[in-house]
Amino acid sequence: MSKFWSPFVKNLVPYVPGEQPKLAKLVKLNTNENPYGPSPKALAAMQAELNDNLRLYPDPNSDLLKNAVAKYFGVQSNQVFLGNGSDEVLAHIFHGLLQHDQPLLFPDISYSFYPVYCGLYGIKFDAVPLDEQFQINPADYAKPNGGIIFPNPNAPTGCLLALEAVEQILKANPNSVVVVDEAYIDFGGETAIALVDRYPNLLVTQTLSKSRSLAGLRVGFAVGHPDLIEALERIKNSFNSYPLDRMANAGAAAAFEDREYFDKTCRLVIDNREKVVAQLQEKGFEVLPSAANFIFARHPRHDAAGLAAKLREQGVIVRHFKQERIAQFLRISIGTPEQNQALIDGLGDL
Ligand SMILES: Cc1ncc(COP(=O)(O)O)c(C=O)c1O
Repeated sequence: MSKFWSPFVKNLVPYVPGEQPKLAKLVKLNTNENPYGPSPKALAAMQAELNDNLRLYPDPNSDLLKNAVAKYFGVQSNQVFLGNGSDEVLAHIFHGLLQHDQPLLFPDISYSFYPVYCGLYGIKFDAVPLDEQFQINPADYAKPNGGIIFPNPNAPTGCLLALEAVEQILKANPNSVVVVDEAYIDFGGETAIALVDRYPNLLVTQTLSKSRSLAGLRVGFAVGHPDLIEALERIKNSFNSYPLDRMANAGAAAAFEDREYFDKTCRLVIDNREKVVAQLQEKGFEVLPSAANFIFARHPRHDAAGLAAKLREQGVIVRHFKQERIAQFLRISIGTPEQNQALIDGLGDL
C-alpha cells in the first residue's frame, strides 16, 4: 500500500488467476487451457499478419472477426460484441448492464471473477446457493434482481444446465439482463445463442481460450440483442477503441473458419475426459457430471489440499479452492492422454 493509492484502490479485492508456472516440465492441469494447439489455419493467418502493417492501428470494429462470428452462429454482426478475452467482455457487461439498484444474482459456487467485478463497479450481489447436487435450480432465480449471470456449464463444477432450464430463467426475468457465460459450452452443451432472437434480455458470452485453443491470444465475445450490444460498444469506445490487435482479429477469424479442426479437438478432449472420469471413479473419487474441459472431483477419504500438494510433488498441478463448500474438491483440467496418465500415476494407490 502507498500514500498515493486512492481509497477505492485500497479496498479492491482483485481476482487471483491460476498459477502460470515458469517450469516447462510441469503437467499443467490447473487453468482449463486446451491441451491441443490452435488450428494450423489460425496460426498461418496470424503469421501472415506479421508484417509492416503492424505500424498501423487495427480495425477498431474488428469487422472481419465480427462477420465470422455472426456467420458461424447465424446472427447479424450488430448482435456481436468482441473483447480482449471474455474477461474483458464480462467487465464491460458488469459495468454497462448489471449495475442497478437491485442485487445481481449468481450461484454461490461460480466463476470467482464475478464478485471481483462487483467490487470494481460497485454492484450489490446476492450469491444463490447451488442445490445439494451442486446444480443450479432455475426456480431460485425467480426473485427481484438487477441482473443474473451464471456460467454454463458452471465453473468450477463443470455441471451443465439444460437449455430449457436457461429458458425458464429468461421467462421468469423479462425485466433483467440474463448473462449466460458459455466459456466451456463446446465440450458438451448446447449454446443459448439460439435463443437471442426471442429474448431481448439475453446476452451469451463465449471465448476462444478453451475450445479454440487460443487462451494466449485473448479473444472473447458476446451475442445478444443489438440494444445490449450497443451499450457494450459505448463502454468499449470510452475505454479502449482497439482491444483486439491485428493478429487477434486475423487468427480468431481463421479459427472460426476451421470447423473440422475445432470438431476434432473438442471430440478428443471429451473422449479424454470420459476416460479420466472412469479412472478417477475407480480410485474412489466422486466426480460431478462434467460438460466442460475440466472435472470437479473429491475423494471421501483424502483431503483435497493434501492431494493437490502430493500431485505437485510429482510435477502435476491442479486447482484447489479454499471456499468452504468446495474445499474438499479438486478442479482438474483435461489434458492429453499422456498428461492425464501422469495425473492418475501421481495420485498413486489411494
Ligand atoms: C467461467 C469463465 N468465464 C470466463 C472466463 C474467461 O476466459 P477468457 O478471458 O480467457 O476469455 C473463464 C476463464 O477461465 C471462465 O472460467
